[in-house]
Amino acid sequence: MADIIASKNIYDKNGVLLLAKGQKATDIVLEKLRLHEIYEKEQAATNNKIKVPAVPVTPEFKERWNLRDDRILAYANEVLSTIIFESKTKPWWMLVNVLTNYVDWMYTHSLDVAMISLMIAAELKYKDNELWNLGLGALLHDVGKIMIPKSILQKPGPLNDTEMFYMKQHCELGLSSLTAYNLSADCTDIVIQHHERLDGSGYPYGLKENEICFNAKIVMVADTIDAITSGRPYKQPKSMDTAIKILSSETGKYPQEIIPVLELILMS
Ligand SMILES: [Fe+2]
Ligand SMILES: [Fe+2]
Repeated sequence: MADIIASKNIYDKNGVLLLAKGQKATDIVLEKLRLHEIYEKEQAATNNKIKVPAVPVTPEFKERWNLRDDRILAYANEVLSTIIFESKTKPWWMLVNVLTNYVDWMYTHSLDVAMISLMIAAELKYKDNELWNLGLGALLHDVGKIMIPKSILQKPGPLNDTEMFYMKQHCELGLSSLTAYNLSADCTDIVIQHHERLDGSGYPYGLKENEICFNAKIVMVADTIDAITSGRPYKQPKSMDTAIKILSSETGKYPQEIIPVLELILMS
């Protein structure tokens, strides 16, 4: 592959210089550019701002999601961009920032789960305020993981019982970190309930069926499908077909009424 030379300074979202003008991009820098949104800071004093990402969706996401209709992706993307833009002036923005920088894949996962959830909800004709609560809850669904040690989150293998005990705390930690912000239950119920399962086998409370709110059911599906189709330090990604088959076969655990909505969004 030909060398990639920066035509201008490139910064990460916190204004940290990733690649200076004229510098060759190393593999490490290219990986960082891939994982983070790319920002260009203009040198002119009149335009000395870090750009807000208008398109949070990653190329990897588009590749994984072979969509029947790009308009639903564009719509979900627009809603999520608005949520992120409006959140920048809100007290929970600090948490989004920590989430972004804690473990590499976590912010990408949060964006992807929010995008999938919003595409499902758009197909279900959610109204604007309903989309906002769902999108923000999905974006923050794993915010409690910023209080879980990185050694557990990044362990390149299965967790032992003690590590799993800590990992399972992230739903309650996430909810408690948001309680001061007066967010709607339509949003915060997602944070506390996204690991519940219809048969009561989930956590933290072992809720069943209609004890789990519909927003949490959407995010439960989006979270699971994203986890199955993404690579992690400890596992290879599986195909979207395999992910749908797993969800469809686990009839006692996952809300089956959401699977056809997913299939409507997908090309095949
Ligand atoms: Fe989670
Ligand atoms: Fe998650």
